[in-house]
Amino acid sequence: DKGGYPHYMLKEIHDQPGVARAIESRYDAGDFIAEQVTLDFNRIDRIRMIACGTSYYACQVARRWFAEVAGLSADVELASEHRYEPVVADGLREAAILVSQSGETADTLASLDKLKGLRVPTVGIVNQQGSTLAREADFFLPLLAGKEIGVASTKAFLAQLLVLARLVAHAADQRGHRAAAKRLRTALVAAPKAIEAALHNESAIVAVAESLAKAQSALFVGRGALYPLAMEGALKLKEISYIHAEGFAAGELKHGPIALVDDKTPIVALAPSGDLFPKLASNLREIAARNGRIILLGDRKALLALSDIASASLTLPSCDELIQPIVAAVPLQFLAYYVAVARGLDIDRPRNLAKSVTVE
Ligand code: F6R
Repeated sequence: DKGGYPHYMLKEIHDQPGVARAIESRYDAGDFIAEQVTLDFNRIDRIRMIACGTSYYACQVARRWFAEVAGLSADVELASEHRYEPVVADGLREAAILVSQSGETADTLASLDKLKGLRVPTVGIVNQQGSTLAREADFFLPLLAGKEIGVASTKAFLAQLLVLARLVAHAADQRGHRAAAKRLRTALVAAPKAIEAALHNESAIVAVAESLAKAQSALFVGRGALYPLAMEGALKLKEISYIHAEGFAAGELKHGPIALVDDKTPIVALAPSGDLFPKLASNLREIAARNGRIILLGDRKALLALSDIASASLTLPSCDELIQPIVAAVPLQFLAYYVAVARGLDIDRPRNLAKSVTVE
């Protein structure tokens, strides 16, 4: 049931405030995570996160949260690489987190087997209850996103971020990083409303998408926790609109990708104000100096500061910097969706893609 929307993807984008609330009511009642995951994060030296595709980008965001909020270093690996990587016995005590919407991704399951062989404790963060990963990981955290039908993952990604953030806050509490944990929890309380506010951008995005739909190639840039969102935005666009798109860390542009910038290449810049804003602003001014067509996503303050170089601006609701990646997911999903609409494509069933990748 598409709930009156023309495509599952659009319905699932709009489902997201409800998903955030479902996660809130399950996870913030009692001590849900402590009951589900009986790991002592004080006795862990390093987190290893494993996933594919969109789920991998959620892990990339969580990597920074683990470092910043829980003081825990975390490595993120693509399952397809991790499964064949040499094992280094460095004596560090590890716990692994495997993230998957379907719980049936072949590469992720192969990583799970490998980790079990190495006796690394595993946490599965999975949407499909009863799936192989949900059953076979040592510990299981449900995503509670409801069935996701659109091939391009939207609400499951947002749920991954929300659940990972709660796991980070739990680890931070255990490790005595109480103030940081409290800040993250407070930010999460505001998340459902911020996600709802991000949905209000929809009509503004349609016009931007119509111009993006004519491009042959698009670049997405961000810094810090928004760098993985730049990659996610690019993945979403290429999956359903078939436009070539790449996500870059903004500081990396001058090391090569800036050669791609011309007046025909849109650059979607994730630019909320915050610690890294001045750095990002200077990266964007370099793009503007080369006639790049900048589509700016930022809060009001950021948009104002860069209004002279933006060819289009989309407002992100203001929120704690920690949850900016969660809020920024929404306009990127809309953008990909409306570009595909403008190009008349089969959004829920994009060419060459399967919802669940159960073969290697
Ligand atoms: C992108 C997308 C894929 C999946 C990837 C992993 O929109 O849906 O990149 O994220 O195939 O799938 P799961 O999360 O089921 O392991």
